[in-house]
Amino acid sequence: MKKASVPAEAQKRALELQKIIRHHDKLYYDQAKPEITDLEYDRLYRELKDLEAEYPSLKTKDSPTQKVGGTATSGKHFQTLPHRLPMLSLDNTYSLEELKEFDERVKKGLEGQKYEYVCELKIDGVSIELIYEKGELVHALTRGDGEKGDDVLRNIQNIPGLPTKLKGSNLPDRIEIRGEVFFTLKDFEAINEDREEKGLPLFANPRNTAAGTLKTVDPKESAKKPLHILLYYVFSPDKLPFDTQQESLQWLKKMGFPEDAHFRLVKNIDQVHDYCEEYQSKRGTIGFDCDGVVLKIDRFDQRQKLGETTKIPRWAIAFKFAAQKAETTLKAITLQVGRTGAITPVAELEPVQLEGTTVSRATLHNEDEIKRKDLRVGDRVIVEKGGLVIPKVLRSLPEKRKGNEKAFKMPSECPVCGSKLEREEDEAAWRCENAACEAQVERRIEHFCGRDAMDIRGAGPAVVKQLLAEKLIKDYADLYALKKSDVAEMERKAEKSAENLIGQIDDSRKRTLGRLLFALGIRHVGVHVAEILAMRYKDIWAVGEASEEELTAIDGIGPIVAHSIVNFFANKTNLKIIDKLDKGGVNLKRLKEEEPSGEQPFAGQIYVFTGELKNYGRKEAEDIVKKLGAKASGSVSKLTTYVVAGEAAGSKLKKAKELGVTVMDEAEFQKMIGKYKK
Ligand code: IVH
Repeated sequence: MKKASVPAEAQKRALELQKIIRHHDKLYYDQAKPEITDLEYDRLYRELKDLEAEYPSLKTKDSPTQKVGGTATSGKHFQTLPHRLPMLSLDNTYSLEELKEFDERVKKGLEGQKYEYVCELKIDGVSIELIYEKGELVHALTRGDGEKGDDVLRNIQNIPGLPTKLKGSNLPDRIEIRGEVFFTLKDFEAINEDREEKGLPLFANPRNTAAGTLKTVDPKESAKKPLHILLYYVFSPDKLPFDTQQESLQWLKKMGFPEDAHFRLVKNIDQVHDYCEEYQSKRGTIGFDCDGVVLKIDRFDQRQKLGETTKIPRWAIAFKFAAQKAETTLKAITLQVGRTGAITPVAELEPVQLEGTTVSRATLHNEDEIKRKDLRVGDRVIVEKGGLVIPKVLRSLPEKRKGNEKAFKMPSECPVCGSKLEREEDEAAWRCENAACEAQVERRIEHFCGRDAMDIRGAGPAVVKQLLAEKLIKDYADLYALKKSDVAEMERKAEKSAENLIGQIDDSRKRTLGRLLFALGIRHVGVHVAEILAMRYKDIWAVGEASEEELTAIDGIGPIVAHSIVNFFANKTNLKIIDKLDKGGVNLKRLKEEEPSGEQPFAGQIYVFTGELKNYGRKEAEDIVKKLGAKASGSVSKLTTYVVAGEAAGSKLKKAKELGVTVMDEAEFQKMIGKYKK
């Protein structure tokens, strides 16, 4: 899409929205007297965000969308509660020597008693305190300022494996459990891939993304993100059924909490060193960001004896990993052409060992990044991994230059098809605009066969390349015309991956409409948007007939996405490909399992209806949400997702407001369920 000048109408609306949102922020922050529900607030916020995405010059610095984390967060959306005991931080060190000094202090403090340590990974997530009263999860507090935090319970209750009730006899009335909420690196990458598809700015790292997710206003949004949790500190004002850290971790496992598979009970500081060194080198293989090791005295009575300062406990310390770095040579900068034509420069490196893996390539993101870092081909460079899946080129070492290093210049033509590259204002990437570019065609077919798309496992990049080279296919629809004899020769030569290719292609004919819509490779249509479309439309032709206006009216689809969908179906080549898919026997219709009632889009939510509804009986309304996967309850608690308040709602509405539960009126409820009607 070429950059458009901002229509007066859009400018006027954006300013208006900024004003309205600021007004409601003020009501929330300063006066604690909100006049609208979270849902309404969210809707205004989203409208402004969409406008700003379409016309970036509207995104002024003081726009309410430019808050930390990019989500609508504010303390007032959550109840602030005190921590019974302050959330202390840990003393930390990067040196194994200083761990020895810590051990000396412990030895002295314990006056000759024998002691053991539990070593755990220091998870780089967001700390959380869970509070269980009479076995029931009632609050989940962020660290806040250490003394008091925000109750984000409604955003974490969908985390798999997090018990909302503790089973067991003789449990103390109140149990407090601290731990860390985080994303796995794989999930984080998937979130960013999805955002890239939708044209949204990428999240910087898993930690910030987890923090943003905890502060999301709408729990439906946070429930879509695969947060994880690990707990490492259990305490209570009363007597607990265990006396050591190791037993507490085993108790957590017994209670059903996700298990920390990495902790180890060790007997002395030498074994602590071994643990630290082992995990420093394994860190790249753990699957989530961890930035060190936490070492804790195992016995609780000994912890008590050692005590704590006002800031840190004397019975624990963190050993922090230094991000592993290595020096190597930047041999070349090559260009990769993506599925949508975006050109990404890639550093080709002299292979070097980092955190247990051999690194020979790293993405350089875009031209500006190369300029900013002054990277020249032939330079000695520093590469870093730091727990990341994809390594980074940190900087060059100009003092080691010999004079024959070459500055990088972005070519003006696509390295594959030769067409002129274009760069839109406000975009970092240069693009090849030729949809028939061989590289784009290849990436599109790879995407079509991908795991979240048509899931044709045997058609990995190497096989796709070969099919194209041997002119057996020209686009992804041609896969469905392949015969056994076409691939027989190839399968004979290739490895296992090409085995049964024809059988796998045949299986993929039955995939869901959602997967197919994602597989088509429509710009900005990620897995989630594809699912929304499949839920709303009965087949691919119905999607193709939808107008921009109609699409934009769907919750979760903004103007940019709608424009892109309409564009895709206006293109004759694309229509021919869809026709070929149809003739090839590929399912183009919504499957039974995708139908709204089977899909359970409200899974994990709890509804309470109160007051008199005009258009539904109480039972009828409850049945509707139940059919969509939610639970209906008669009483309001912290776990309630939404209270739907009709005429003359009384005490339940009051309680919902006190607890900060989102309240909807009947019209909002009707709108919310409307999109799931067949
Ligand atoms: S124990 C009083 N164990 O690191 C001791 N903390 O800098 C409480 N962290 O605020 C902390 N993994 O957010 C502990 N296995 C672990 C940890 C861990 C990560 C975080 C936690 C804490 C910070 C201290």
